[in-house]
Amino acid sequence: MTKPAPVSPARILLVFGTRPEAIKLFPLVHALKADPRFECVVCVSAQHRQMLDQVLEIAGIVPDHDLDVMRPDQTLDALTANLLTGLGKVMNEVRPDRVIVQGDTATAMAGALAAYYRKLPVDHVEAGLRSGNIHHPWPEEVNRKIIGGMASLHFAPTGTSEAALLRENIAPDRVHVTGNTVIDALHWVTAEIERQPALASDLAELEARFAGKRIIGVTSHRRENFGEGMEQIATAIREIAARPDVAVIFPVHLNPNVRKVMNERLSGLDNVALIEPLDYPHFARLISIAEIMLTDSGGVQEEAPALGKPVLVMRETTERPEGVAAGTAKLVGTSAETIVTEISTLLDDREAYESMARAHNPFGDGQTSRRIVELLANEIGNQA
Ligand code: UD1
Ligand code: UDP
Repeated sequence: MTKPAPVSPARILLVFGTRPEAIKLFPLVHALKADPRFECVVCVSAQHRQMLDQVLEIAGIVPDHDLDVMRPDQTLDALTANLLTGLGKVMNEVRPDRVIVQGDTATAMAGALAAYYRKLPVDHVEAGLRSGNIHHPWPEEVNRKIIGGMASLHFAPTGTSEAALLRENIAPDRVHVTGNTVIDALHWVTAEIERQPALASDLAELEARFAGKRIIGVTSHRRENFGEGMEQIATAIREIAARPDVAVIFPVHLNPNVRKVMNERLSGLDNVALIEPLDYPHFARLISIAEIMLTDSGGVQEEAPALGKPVLVMRETTERPEGVAAGTAKLVGTSAETIVTEISTLLDDREAYESMARAHNPFGDGQTSRRIVELLANEIGNQA
């Protein structure tokens, strides 16, 4: 009797290019590479360079294709044009069965469009986030709506994101609530740090310098905050850091529009450490030693609640209302006065602090990649 011919694995092309996409997709790369039903091909645009490479190294991922598109202070139109032509060429060469993109960056949007132009199904991880305001976050709100208009499978992190997609008339059987892969990433990195504590030990010097002080972890990079917003954020940090009981640890994003303001306004202050972007294990360590996180980041809004840390969000709106609804996140905008007031309340009012400092996981249980892999297998009809 002849053996049935083995079903050939489905070729999945994952496209990403910035730090947060790499963090949120490495667990899926690991899961797909471990599964014989799939052939996983990784294409990085390298929209970010150093900040992307930090993640690839920790996660042990060597991309199959690297477009190396990052240029200093790149404009959105030049970036998008380069991404579209570069990603299209890779798709012609790889000839994937499906393409996966994550979130709402220029790379994700161009990756989805290049796939659509080739009539390739494109699946969207972290689908359905909506702030309802096309200028906040800018340009991400429109990027993700464009991707949503083309996606085959929509992997929505929460019921809220699922509901947003259904309101946009996406067919219900195309939308799956999977959780967010960021929690898979956080679980993975936490386990790695437990196994090898040296992975997160480089903050020891700062921890010793600031021993006894209450640490505030800060990140900031949003384009809509450039200019006046960044100035206000710097003013707030100066004022808070004037308190003798506080220390601010601020890994500064490599975007020159962020670095210029922060270096000019905050360098040399005793209670402020402006440091280079941390790799993922060290950033997880920073969240764990911080009393409060102050950020305009998307990912940090998801990680801080999972680690039980209050997070003050320097934005006008958020597409991640789950943390706010649960009380661990609060929108504070970018007025220096409001930021200082909100931080002072958390520092000085124990009850206010305790009510925000509760670990909870509205964004997932760490099993999101496993769910996505099974949904992909169902879709392809290629189950083992
Ligand atoms: C990008 C994404 C944003 C995401 C953010 C995460 C778009 C339009 N923006 O914003 O959605 O939230 O990444 O951090 O897709 N740079 C370096 N080295 C790096 C990274 C950046 O030098 O490793 C500098 C370069 O000068 C680069 C600039 O930062 O030109 C801006 O990078 P870009 O990817 O265009 O925008 P971000 O503001 O990082
Ligand atoms: N992060 C990191 N090192 C840092 C700052 C942030 O590894 O110095 C991680 C953080 O844990 C989160 C992600 O980067 O997972 C967020 O990236 P960013 O704020 O750049 O983008 P966003 O999430 O706003 O798109």
